[in-house]
Amino acid sequence: MTKKTLKKLLCLKKSNIGISCVTSYDASFAKLADESDIDIILVGDSLGEVIKGMRNTHSVTVDDICYHTKNVFHGIKYAYLIADMPINSYQTKKQALANALKITKTGMADMVKLESTPEQINIVKYLIENKIKVCGHIGIQPQKIANKKLYRKIGTTTGEANALIKEALLLQEAGVQILIAECIDGNCAKKLRKILKIPLIGIGSGNNCDGQVRVIYDLFNISFNGTPGFMNNKRIKKNPFKDILMDYIKSTKKFLSN
Ligand code: KIV
Repeated sequence: MTKKTLKKLLCLKKSNIGISCVTSYDASFAKLADESDIDIILVGDSLGEVIKGMRNTHSVTVDDICYHTKNVFHGIKYAYLIADMPINSYQTKKQALANALKITKTGMADMVKLESTPEQINIVKYLIENKIKVCGHIGIQPQKIANKKLYRKIGTTTGEANALIKEALLLQEAGVQILIAECIDGNCAKKLRKILKIPLIGIGSGNNCDGQVRVIYDLFNISFNGTPGFMNNKRIKKNPFKDILMDYIKSTKKFLSN
């Protein structure tokens, strides 16, 4: 295996080979994903839910992201490493650059991901002008929604689909090199994938993207707030870790009573 680069990820898009991305927050899971030949590891602010046990991502800080990104960095050799810029960490150009530098220098991320609005495009451009690699995030932006029950498909109407396409092109023109699309309509994703030169990575957006991203705890069916509806965990019927733990507890009980 060799280090995954942006050039290689772009080659996968051009060759119609799905780009795999999974979140990780610690060295052990990151090592597991890396050794399984994952293309991208994302240190997502989903850590607010699966690590901190909160209802949403809003409590996550830049220090949290740096801490977890550094831990993940220690566990990997090959995967491309993206880290989230958490809520309120990119409100001005100056603040965004200081935090992005912290995440890439202390956390050792290859790229940062922002849930920006079209009005924040100057902040995105400023990061790129200052040599920060940026991943965009369109569709559902969890930093703007406190209650997950309010999540819905975006881009099902022509107006919404056109707005998504406009936003994606704006980000690409600004120099964003990967785009994550969360919960967007499948037909809209199909159009976007064709139009965009950069990889489009979907989550809950159908299989017409260049790749997909999953929260690793959802993949293992152990997420603190439950697994989202679009996860089709056919291979994992129930929580696999529970069986291992229950076996361990059972054998310990026996061992102690002998
Ligand atoms: O925080 C996260 O894990 C994410 C993915 C769900 C895309 O942003």
